[in-house]
Amino acid sequence: MSFTIDLSGRTAVVTGGGQGVGRAACLTLAAAGARVLVNDFVADRAESVAKEIEQAGGAAAAVPFDVSDYQAVTRSVSDAGVDILVNNAGNAGPAIGDATAPASGGRGPSVSLGEFTNTEPADWERYFAVNLYGVMNCTRATLPHMIAAGHGRIITIVSDAGRVGEPHMAPYAAAKAGAAGFTRAIAREVGRDGITVNNIALATVDTIGLAEMAAGSPEIQRRVERQLRRYIVPRLGQPDDVAGLVTFLASPAASWITGQTYPVNGGYSVNL
Ligand SMILES: NC(=O)c1ccc[n+]([C@@H]2O[C@H](COP(=O)([O-])OP(=O)(O)OC[C@H]3O[C@@H](n4cnc5c(N)ncnc54)[C@H](O)[C@@H]3O)[C@@H](O)[C@H]2O)c1
Repeated sequence: MSFTIDLSGRTAVVTGGGQGVGRAACLTLAAAGARVLVNDFVADRAESVAKEIEQAGGAAAAVPFDVSDYQAVTRSVSDAGVDILVNNAGNAGPAIGDATAPASGGRGPSVSLGEFTNTEPADWERYFAVNLYGVMNCTRATLPHMIAAGHGRIITIVSDAGRVGEPHMAPYAAAKAGAAGFTRAIAREVGRDGITVNNIALATVDTIGLAEMAAGSPEIQRRVERQLRRYIVPRLGQPDDVAGLVTFLASPAASWITGQTYPVNGGYSVNL
């Protein structure tokens, strides 16, 4: 006997799929048989993951766009027949006004802004643009097809920063908590259409994005060391720790699971 997840005949789009958690989700969804539209605002990354999937015998295409650009999102995915939306693009997004180059001399901007009282509204925008409006844009663009088809899956990658709270990350935490609240509301709107909507809340996962942020910030490095001491399973997460749950939630086996937020966090928080 064996247990198989079969997503053949389904089309998935994974935002920010060009590296890290998103890339792992793309590879696992493709291995389960889905056709995967690999999104990233860095086109090369999306193309390279799409190629990797095709070379492994899967079906994929690159769909580069910035999730915070509603027109671009709509143009790219409204008519793509998306059955599974994985809202993964996040962190601090692109540099303001530059949709192609990460900020800070090649490093991604940080999720940590320092003390909230030293920030201004203009500093908060990038976090909301990608982590909240990006999720809303992609959901708005793909949901009509799912409703018409009578099935669908929306999985949003949020953060324990938005669930448990983290100092110096208030705008990022607020945007992630906003995304989780948004998706809970959507879950209630579309349950009877055969669509489930869930969140996965991550603690620290060892990705290129994290490495770039840590390289530019001793505060992030200290935070990671501190957090590691609080994980029941004493290691950083790996992208594959997340990809299996994404693929399960995308599958028919999860058809009675909706409106939930699942921590994937090594036991950082333990809840009833
Ligand atoms: N890595 C962690 O420790 C951690 C912890 C908690 C939550 N998360 C969340 O998990 C998700 C994935 O994180 P990761 O560490 O794999 O990220 P990462 O930075 O390694 O990769 C993110 C990818 O998304 C792309 N991207 C960024 N902004 C985009 C936009 N506006 N439009 C399209 N693509 C965009 C980037 O180009 C990049 O390839 C994010 O939502 C992040 O907030 C990560």
